Amino acid sequence: MEFHILTIFPEMFNGFLNESILKKAQGKGVIKIHLHDIRDYSTDKHKKVDDTPYGGGAGMVFTPQPLFDCIEDVKKKALRRSPQGSTESFGPKAPVIYMTPKGQRLTQTKVEKLSTKFTQLILLCGHYEGIDQRVIDALVDMEISIGDYVLSGGELAAMVVVDAVSRLVPGAIGKEASHEEETFSKKLDRKKEYPHYTKPSEFRGMKVPEVLLNGHHAEIEKWRRKNLK
Ligand code: 6GU
Repeated sequence: MEFHILTIFPEMFNGFLNESILKKAQGKGVIKIHLHDIRDYSTDKHKKVDDTPYGGGAGMVFTPQPLFDCIEDVKKKALRRSPQGSTESFGPKAPVIYMTPKGQRLTQTKVEKLSTKFTQLILLCGHYEGIDQRVIDALVDMEISIGDYVLSGGELAAMVVVDAVSRLVPGAIGKEASHEEETFSKKLDRKKEYPHYTKPSEFRGMKVPEVLLNGHHAEIEKWRRKNLK
């Protein structure tokens, strides 16, 4: 899976992408993340990317020029990288996803679809009051929101998509088992999880349930099913 992130704040992703499972998954080559700075595409002499809205109103709006040039360039790159490489496969293989609170809500079902239907995702991070509607009409395939609240920009939301989708890419998660188990508990009840304990077996007088210490897998399974919280 390859992610292309279009943003005016590429530095925001450094810490996030270079830690933990995403770092390992990139190291193994099962996911690739490409950051594209929208400002680099501005033809304005001051590298301006926004302007006041026509018709008035609060805030600034992303102008079409840097976004059109950036998206078109990234789509071209994504196309060259796509396994088949045909122009025909490029639309569905690399959808342009605009991260916006007005988008379709991200769910695990949606995450699963993204991970199986596509080999590349182009994630466009918005800011200010939004982006010029002509960009959406001409180039955006999908709009995604991560919940009913407003963030200052699409970057955090794009990180959520990258993390959730990456976890489902084969080979990205270290323990194949932990993934399988999660799927299992999800079927049982999407919101419930059994309690987790690790060493030491006693901490400040609080003991780990005995059944978890004896290595009897059927008993442990039964206990976990009974103790979903
Ligand atoms: Cl995708 N973007 C912004 N700016 N705010 C959000 C969001 C996205 N999803 C929820 N809130």
